[in-house]
Amino acid sequence: MTKFEVTTLNEFILKSQMNYPQAQGGFSHLLHHVGIAAKIVNREVNKAGLVDILGEVGNTNVQGESQKKLDVFANDHFINAIHNCGEVCAIASEENESFIFFDDEMSRNGKYVFLMDPLDGSSNIDVNVSIGTIFSIYRRISPIGEKATMEDFLQPGTAQIAAGYVLYGSSTMMVYTTGRGVTGFTLDPSIGEFCLSHRRMETPEDGRIYSINEGNYKKFPKGVKKYIKYCQVRDEKSDRPYTSRYIGSLVADFHRNLIKGGIFIYPETESAPLGKLRLLYECNPIAFLAEQAGGKASNGFEPIMKIKPTSLHQRVPFYTGSKKMVELVECLLQEHTNGKTVDLPYKMENQQ
Ligand code: AHG
Ligand code: MN
Ligand code: MN
Repeated sequence: MTKFEVTTLNEFILKSQMNYPQAQGGFSHLLHHVGIAAKIVNREVNKAGLVDILGEVGNTNVQGESQKKLDVFANDHFINAIHNCGEVCAIASEENESFIFFDDEMSRNGKYVFLMDPLDGSSNIDVNVSIGTIFSIYRRISPIGEKATMEDFLQPGTAQIAAGYVLYGSSTMMVYTTGRGVTGFTLDPSIGEFCLSHRRMETPEDGRIYSINEGNYKKFPKGVKKYIKYCQVRDEKSDRPYTSRYIGSLVADFHRNLIKGGIFIYPETESAPLGKLRLLYECNPIAFLAEQAGGKASNGFEPIMKIKPTSLHQRVPFYTGSKKMVELVECLLQEHTNGKTVDLPYKMENQQ
């Protein structure tokens, strides 16, 4: 008889816990609840075309963006699942202006804070294109038993103890890291379980895909414009021109580039000098995954995870993906901003 070996997310979490003899199981319990919320949101995403869940709910969120029904659904269900696990004292979400403190005894004693973008890529919901959820977990700084404080959330990305995303794509995946590499699980809908499918995800050191909303080209910094031209120029030796791929869902764009090798860029522009993406619940968790997979994540000048946050919904320019690609665009940005002369590994002349 053929032997089938399936490792479910929960089995994997429990086995990983054995590497930490002092662990009391609280963190495993929390990850288990992330998996539950992901399955609930996945169920709604999959039937989005069948029920009255598409379209806008009529509100705007703290960023002034219109909230879609699924944004609200995902937000409510993640908050609920994370609260129910009792390990988290407070949660911050893209969809809520301030963080939410869980005021029951069990949660007050929770050791962790949870940050999330419950539905990433919401402009793709109504057109059946991949969307995601991004999450980030920190150990709280405030004393256990007391109310969580803003300081618990304003920790640099280097203090994350776990981060990940759920990708609701042609299949649904949960990808996460606890600082020991990146692991991917694929949802098997027939058994309703996330099953281990990508034991150790490593991103190629260099890649051929660049992902950026080129519609904003005119407003990009000079270094980014130069990098795009570099990606487009013909060069047999370096296998250029590169391929341009942009879905408009950070999770989906990052996931593809993570596997194939590439760079995702959401730069600062003249009209948005800090870019669009949010440091705490979009860029930091993705940066943690990128670095754990051997890639890089930067704001063009310093690693994303070294930035000391100053507010919950802070935005930051974002450059992430294959190490060599991020390093090159950093060189170009710094050359143009600081007038620093950089020895580029290629010639830029004769480019159209
Ligand atoms: P969200 O749906 O959570 O607001 O995030 C959308 C983000 C991100 O997923 C994506 O990379 C980017 O916005 C796309 O922005 P543009 O449409 O400006 O390219
Ligand atoms: Mn988002
Ligand atoms: Mn969102």
